[in-house]
Amino acid sequence: MQQPSFEKQAEEVETFWAYQSTGLGMDHLTRTEIQRRPLAEDEVRIRVAAAATNYRDLALAKGEYLPHMKRPFVPLSEGAGIVTEVGGKVTDLKIGDAVLGHYTRDWLEGEFYVQYHDSKVGGPVDGWLAQEVIMPRRAVLEVPKGWTLEQAASLAVSGVTAWRALGGSKDSLAQLAGQYVLIEGTGNVSLQALDIAAKAGALPVVLTSRPHHQQALLEMGACAVIGPGSLEQRRQWILEVTQGHGVSLAIDVIGGDTLLSLVLPLMREEGRVAIVGFLDSPKVSGDLIGPMLRGMLRLEGVSVGSRQNFVDLLTFMQHHNLRPKIAARYSPDEIQQALTHRVDGLGKIVIVVDPCIAGRAVS
Ligand SMILES: NC(=O)c1ccc[n+]([C@@H]2O[C@H](COP(=O)([O-])OP(=O)(O)OC[C@H]3O[C@@H](n4cnc5c(N)ncnc54)[C@H](OP(=O)(O)O)[C@@H]3O)[C@@H](O)[C@H]2O)c1
Repeated sequence: MQQPSFEKQAEEVETFWAYQSTGLGMDHLTRTEIQRRPLAEDEVRIRVAAAATNYRDLALAKGEYLPHMKRPFVPLSEGAGIVTEVGGKVTDLKIGDAVLGHYTRDWLEGEFYVQYHDSKVGGPVDGWLAQEVIMPRRAVLEVPKGWTLEQAASLAVSGVTAWRALGGSKDSLAQLAGQYVLIEGTGNVSLQALDIAAKAGALPVVLTSRPHHQQALLEMGACAVIGPGSLEQRRQWILEVTQGHGVSLAIDVIGGDTLLSLVLPLMREEGRVAIVGFLDSPKVSGDLIGPMLRGMLRLEGVSVGSRQNFVDLLTFMQHHNLRPKIAARYSPDEIQQALTHRVDGLGKIVIVVDPCIAGRAVS
């Protein structure tokens, strides 16, 4: 089979299509033609194969999250593709290489600074819902051998957040062996957290409103699956599963009442709650300090992770032969549906930007 010539494409095309968020509301996600610009010396041009969605993309598009963010911007924070051109100072990537994007592109390693938020891809920095993207070399990683580009496109936010919430290093993960970890729901972050936690030898307890997925979740390594119920019922069920001890780590993607009424009372002494999301609400009202002092708990905010976190995650996944799971595929012109339609499968929602290369395994 003849391989596409990426070099030729880079020379011949003058404009490319991209979707932009031009205002608040789903109707303001519109397709446009963008003029190509020359690369800076440290940049690479990438033909996009696939992008993937996260709750953030929906909340940004609807204006429920960061409504004052400068627009227009190209949405979608996760993506992967093939390098079609490299800037003069890029010596370690070449045309035809398969790459995936890092999300907080100025956060390379070490400590986090708030100004890094300005470098987040998929708003405010242009994201992956486009025929091609330009990224600084530092903001892309090579796709692991054997992965498809769709799989590679499905990790930058959800996988790195899960990794960081679980401790962010191989050593901290090792400490979770034999410990109960509470995972809320089976969405993007939670499913990847389940995969990682199980491989680390932790005992993941998964809450879900979709108990028909119980068998699949147990096969992924959940030690117990807790179905729908009131916060009080679910708390009791989890206490039974954990023989009354509670959990050492909780990854809270729901916030609101769930944090105060379910999670905090379930924490073991000196346990850690990774504060990740606000699917219910970013606001809590009630006794936060009492349970924290009583159990000497740690509440730790997570904002995805650094490039080094991403490298470590990929190393861990390769070592354990883990791959992101894909639940559904959409085309770019179905972006509204991809963001709003609730898919029943377990895994990521992928936007197949270039069907010729999205499913191709990297050799
Ligand atoms: N801080 C960070 O670095 C970071 C990074 C990524 C995401 N986040 C945040 O984390 C949260 C999860 O993001 P995501 O992309 O993983 O979300 P997602 O894929 O849309 O997660 C949806 C799943 O969460 C569960 N869920 C529980 N309560 C829910 C509720 N009140 N409304 C909707 N779903 C609920 C459901 O699981 P079941 O179907 O199994 O019941 C649902 O399928 C969001 O608030 C997002 O903004 C934060």
